[in-house]
Amino acid sequence: MAKWAYDLSEALLAESLPDRWAHSQRVYAQALTLVPALGVNAELLAAAAIAHDVGYATDAVDTGQHMIDGARYLRDVVGADPRLCGIVAFHTSSPWEAAELGLSDALREFGPAEPELVDAITYCDLTSSPTGQLVDPGRRLVEVLDRYGPDHVVFRAVSAARPELLSRVERVQQRRAEAQQESVS
Ligand SMILES: [Fe+2]
Repeated sequence: MAKWAYDLSEALLAESLPDRWAHSQRVYAQALTLVPALGVNAELLAAAAIAHDVGYATDAVDTGQHMIDGARYLRDVVGADPRLCGIVAFHTSSPWEAAELGLSDALREFGPAEPELVDAITYCDLTSSPTGQLVDPGRRLVEVLDRYGPDHVVFRAVSAARPELLSRVERVQQRRAEAQQESVS
């Protein structure tokens, strides 16, 4: 599934949105670091990681909320696994953005969210810069707020979401540390 998602995302993003593709590749690499912590769900997360931003691709843009657009594209155009669509739909600040845009019902089509996997994709997304560098999650959120500015829906959504997003990152770091501990003991 990860290989399929990789090829699909590359075809949608690599040429037209190279920075977005570089970011997606870093998010994918971060997902691979969570293999010991996620066990059977590791491949699903890797597939969602590489595909999480396909909603920015020209072919996928519809509502303008890229998480919903990506999930719809994956569901309706390429018939992806519903769990993969769910992770893409709910990644990072999606519920807050959907609420700002009156799209909460559209998002619900992909629920219920799976908290462990939503935590994991958020961790991967927030530790990857817009051009694919590793980055501190707190800094990354500041960068997003600076990029959009206070009048933008993303600014309002990310401001409201910030405490929960940082809690997700902490939970994943904790789980990762526990899995590392288990593998050495
Ligand atoms: Fe992303």
